Amino acid sequence: MSKLALFGGEKAIKTESPEMFKWPIVNQAMIDAGAKVIAEGTGSGTDITKAFEKEYAAWNGTKFGLAHTNGTAALEAAMFAVGLGEGDEMICPSITYWASCTAAMNLGAKVVFADIDTETLALDPKDLEKRITDKTKAIMVVHYMARPSEMDEIMAIAEKHNIKVIEDVSHAQGALYKGKMVGSIGHVSAASMMSGKSFAIGEGGMLLTDDQEIYDRALLWGHMPGMVILLILNTKIILVSLGVDTRIG
Ligand SMILES: Cc1ncc(COP(=O)(O)O)c(C=O)c1O
Repeated sequence: MSKLALFGGEKAIKTESPEMFKWPIVNQAMIDAGAKVIAEGTGSGTDITKAFEKEYAAWNGTKFGLAHTNGTAALEAAMFAVGLGEGDEMICPSITYWASCTAAMNLGAKVVFADIDTETLALDPKDLEKRITDKTKAIMVVHYMARPSEMDEIMAIAEKHNIKVIEDVSHAQGALYKGKMVGSIGHVSAASMMSGKSFAIGEGGMLLTDDQEIYDRALLWGHMPGMVILLILNTKIILVSLGVDTRIG
């Protein structure tokens, strides 16, 4: 390179703004796929969502994937799924988007903030351990700005104290921690897929887990087939639900 563009040399990137900052990138295959769903007139309960959950889970290396209306809903389902409830505490890094923790309060739990590592902006495992009490039920890990958190140390602390780990992967889809996809290391993970994220589908979210019980509880929280409990009383079928619906097509 002879001369920097700044000093009048040739530009390495020739695409002009705002085109170069347009996100997400939409191609013809995506437009055709969307049009096909609309044309088929089957907006709810589509096989496409089921296929997406399966493929996304396989890409991440987890057993189950459960699509949600947005990342906030997937995070709330993950918190409910690990049993977070009235009187419990959830530890959360002190820098994140609010959805990583606010749903804990909807469930009657308290959010306890832990320090972050100033180098990585991720949860500082040393400070995390100091925040654990006999009420701590869950640890929220946020792979902030695509920097994977120190998962080995966090999982060891969680195991020692018998606490569940939820990963918020909203900023880090596809990132690897020691060769493993983030989102497949904790007990459950949730990710936003809104249009500003690296894995962007519009409004959407995904929950991932290997744990059958966590998956079943997430279904119970916001997905119709799971949340319906059939009580057969005098030949009448009564449907009981938790009143939350967070499914997508
Ligand atoms: C770290 C993090 N977690 C959760 C969310 C919430 O996701 P959504 O906007 O899809 O509800 C966001 C969204 O910006 C986020 O940045």
